[in-house]
Amino acid sequence: MKKRCNMNIMSMDIILIFVFAVICAGLVKGTCPSTCSCVDDSSGSHVNCYSKYLGRIPTLPKDTYYLDLRYNNITEIDVQLCKEMPQLHTIYISFNLIIEIPETTFADCEQLYRIDLQYNKIRSIESNTFVNMTNLYQLYLYNNKIRSLVSYTFINLTNLYRLQLSHNEISTIEPFTFMGLPSLQYLYLHNNKIRSLESNTFINMTKLYRLELSGNPLNCDCSIFPFWSWLIERSSIGTTAKCSNGTLVTSLQSAALETCHPDNCQCFNGGKCEAMGYELICDCIGQWTGRFCQDSQCTSFDCGFGDCYIEPVNGTAQCLCDDKYVNYCPGLYQSNNQTFEI
Ligand SMILES: *[C@@H]1O[C@H](CO)[C@@H](O)[C@H](O)[C@H]1NC(C)=O
Ligand SMILES: *[C@@H]1O[C@H](CO)[C@@H](O)[C@H](O)[C@H]1NC(C)=O
Ligand SMILES: *[C@@H]1O[C@H](CO)[C@@H](O)[C@H](O)[C@H]1NC(C)=O
Ligand SMILES: *[C@@H]1O[C@H](CO)[C@@H](O)[C@H](O)[C@H]1NC(C)=O
Ligand SMILES: *[C@@H]1O[C@H](CO)[C@@H](O)[C@H](O)[C@H]1NC(C)=O
Ligand SMILES: *[C@@H]1O[C@H](CO)[C@@H](O)[C@H](O)[C@H]1NC(C)=O
Ligand SMILES: *[C@@H]1O[C@H](CO)[C@@H](O)[C@H](O)[C@H]1NC(C)=O
Repeated sequence: MKKRCNMNIMSMDIILIFVFAVICAGLVKGTCPSTCSCVDDSSGSHVNCYSKYLGRIPTLPKDTYYLDLRYNNITEIDVQLCKEMPQLHTIYISFNLIIEIPETTFADCEQLYRIDLQYNKIRSIESNTFVNMTNLYQLYLYNNKIRSLVSYTFINLTNLYRLQLSHNEISTIEPFTFMGLPSLQYLYLHNNKIRSLESNTFINMTKLYRLELSGNPLNCDCSIFPFWSWLIERSSIGTTAKCSNGTLVTSLQSAALETCHPDNCQCFNGGKCEAMGYELICDCIGQWTGRFCQDSQCTSFDCGFGDCYIEPVNGTAQCLCDDKYVNYCPGLYQSNNQTFEI
């Protein structure tokens, strides 16, 4: 009888130790939130928190590799996702109320493959948010409120294949925004507010296959010329880019853009050809003026009895009286040790 009792106490201890160990492991690993369902498989935890009225991202199992947070009321991302879940491979946070993505959200996310942030209220993306995610294959940001894209936002996403930015409010795309996307094949920018595109906007996207740009009020004056030339050169790229009057950019005739060809514009004294409406004009540096930047201030400068001298760098005029630079050379001046009166 006594012996049996001892045995019971011993097995109770073992059970307690076991329970304690399981709790500890759970704490280290992060447990599955009661509202979500988690399935463990050989890759880790497959976590489903679809439509659970969540207001924020809960603490999740550390080995989560697949995370579905669609249709919740998440307003902010306050965790560094891949620091919490280093095996994270796929994340869906679409159909939430996120306004901003802190720059560190995706830090150390080299392994992340798919990010779905569509249907949120994101207003802007900082340039370091998505860098260096060398395994990222798909990035969905459509149906947000993004207004502009800054240079180098997607740098070093060497495997990105599909980038979805349609249905935002993008009006400005800075030069080199899409630098460092050697594998990108599908770029969706339709239904935004893009009026003009720089010639270097789509530079070095050698694999680009489809560029969706319809539903943007593209201005088809001379400012479209560099983009148009690029499209003609890369004729294999299917594009739906249209001018604000409905004409397809690819169907613009070179004759219509004749006056926009840089060869038809020559500027002197450091001036540059700029698109202005349906022609190119010279943008002069410094004090140079005139249609071709050929006139300096000397054209109208009154130097009195001296010579007008032009500073070549900036076209600024000065008067040369004898050996001195002044603003005006009066009638009475000294030369060769003799005083003249005129
Ligand atoms: C989100 O919040 C709104 C209003 O607060 C509520 O009506 C809706 O049911 C919530 N949806 C989810 C999925 O939590
Ligand atoms: C990206 O990777 C490079 C090289 O590994 C590193 O120097 C840089 O700091 C990283 N940038 C970010 C924002 O993590
Ligand atoms: C991109 O990657 C290269 C090579 O790893 C690295 O030198 C560079 O710093 C990275 N750029 C950024 C902005 O992190
Ligand atoms: C574009 O790619 C070419 C060849 O890969 C490279 O030489 C060039 O520097 C790249 N351009 C830019 C702006 O990085
Ligand atoms: C639209 O604008 C382009 C460029 O200015 C012009 O060539 C084209 O004829 C216009 N199309 C219509 C339908 O007005
Ligand atoms: C023009 O260049 C000269 C010489 O570099 C300099 O002294 C002068 O201040 C400049 N003027 C203007 C208006 O920039
Ligand atoms: C000007 O006058 C000074 C002395 O008054 C004289 O030394 C100098 O040689 C003269 N210069 C010329 C060019 O005549």
